[in-house]
Amino acid sequence: MKQRILSGITPSGSELHIGNYFGAVSAQIALQDSHETYYFVADLHALTTVRDREQLEKNITGVVLDYLALGLDPDKCVFFRQSDVSEHSQLAVILANFISYGQMKRMHAFKDKLQTGTSVDSINMGLFNYPILMAADILLYKPYGVPVGEDQRQHIELTRDIAESFNKTYKISTFPLPEPIISKEVGRVVGTDGERKMSKSLGNIIGIFEDEKVIEKQIMGSFTDPKRIKATDPGRVEGNPVFIYHDLMNDDKGEVEDLKARYRAGTVGDVEVKQKLVAAHKRKFAGARAKRKELEGNIELVKKILAEGAVKARKFASQTLAEVYKIIGEHNKLNNYIACRSGITMKSIINFDDYSKIEVRVGKIVEAMVPEGSNKLIQFRVDFGEYQKTIFSGIKEWYSPEELVGVKTMWVTNLTPKKTPFGDSEGMLFACDTKDGPFGDAQGKKPYIVEVGDEVEVGSEFH
Ligand code: ADP
Ligand code: TRP
Repeated sequence: MKQRILSGITPSGSELHIGNYFGAVSAQIALQDSHETYYFVADLHALTTVRDREQLEKNITGVVLDYLALGLDPDKCVFFRQSDVSEHSQLAVILANFISYGQMKRMHAFKDKLQTGTSVDSINMGLFNYPILMAADILLYKPYGVPVGEDQRQHIELTRDIAESFNKTYKISTFPLPEPIISKEVGRVVGTDGERKMSKSLGNIIGIFEDEKVIEKQIMGSFTDPKRIKATDPGRVEGNPVFIYHDLMNDDKGEVEDLKARYRAGTVGDVEVKQKLVAAHKRKFAGARAKRKELEGNIELVKKILAEGAVKARKFASQTLAEVYKIIGEHNKLNNYIACRSGITMKSIINFDDYSKIEVRVGKIVEAMVPEGSNKLIQFRVDFGEYQKTIFSGIKEWYSPEELVGVKTMWVTNLTPKKTPFGDSEGMLFACDTKDGPFGDAQGKKPYIVEVGDEVEVGSEFH
């Protein structure tokens, strides 16, 4: 079995920079071939800085397009949006009980904020709690490893502490301890200021998808060797940002060696070194930039990928959450969520465990009739693409057979056939409560039948 990998990216700015790419994104994308990968856009995390909802939406679309352009394949990995999977927030509430204030106070993001002169009293609790949400993001998927940049190491260590504390409390090994997957060489790419890590918020980045003019300006403005005054002075290559970038981006290693030698000897100017870097950037990212252009504006594709990803992620996340609720002693009944008489429990309210066992498929009603002598049931012939089923449902009080023919809706399809006076029912209509209240035998409220749009194929399964 493939090992599971998880990582998230905060949509706090609209486009990725080369620090993100070499520090984290390229490793994440490479892992999609050999591992089971879950990646998500951490939109809840972005709330610590982005409060403009249009900007947030734009950032999210931007991040998805960036990843696709850089080679992420949605057929190979599950790519989703954090807020689409509400289990992240739910688990965070629980995990907050397994970490102390003292430990939280030592988190870098919080400490860095204080260093900017912000007073403790005005610290945003979203920022303070950020590492707890991140621990929930990770532990929900029980991953083997988390590929990120060096700046995230502390968060993963805290996640391990939380997991250990939970496991110890309940004497159970629910959460495997996740490994940080951080590159020694490129886990922290220095910014063009030559000092701090490259970061959107510090304005010391080299972009990937910006206008060529912008990228050229970013590169040409990069810090080099401060001690070198003239091009004829011997210069330092080690630790020099421009050469660090050459090592990362310039695939013409011969050219890089030649530039380094000439720099050390004082026979090449900064300008030429940087111009060659601009050219190397162009070569390295030409394919991704072209792909990004091609995908730009294809919002439908982004939506589709995130929607499909959310279904898959939720399937995993809901199982972990159900397991956790059970361990801590919360029953978490799906009260009033789904009143569906599952053949598995034959109760009108089912719990998560049973819910995870049911198979729900899209089926189109091809025939509907009221069997002679029935005062409750309608008999349906339902098409599921590769097969058809006969299913009875007690909804005659609210619906007439004629109005239901041709309707595409959802059905529970993995139940053992249930006997009715008119024949066996090979499944069950999947219907929901209305806003008037729960339906079901006792309440007598009209159930709501979810109609499924044309874009979803008959026979497809809901998770
Ligand atoms: P930023 O600091 O620019 O806001 P993010 O926090 O969005 O970047 O980081 C996204 C991913 O890229 C994370 O996994 C992070 O560890 C990694 N990363 C960010 N900056 C760098 C850098 N300068 N060097 C290496 N990795 C980085
Ligand atoms: N904090 C990460 C960053 O700023 C993003 C993130 C959120 C994340 N949740 C995560 C990364 C879970 C890895 C795993 O880059």
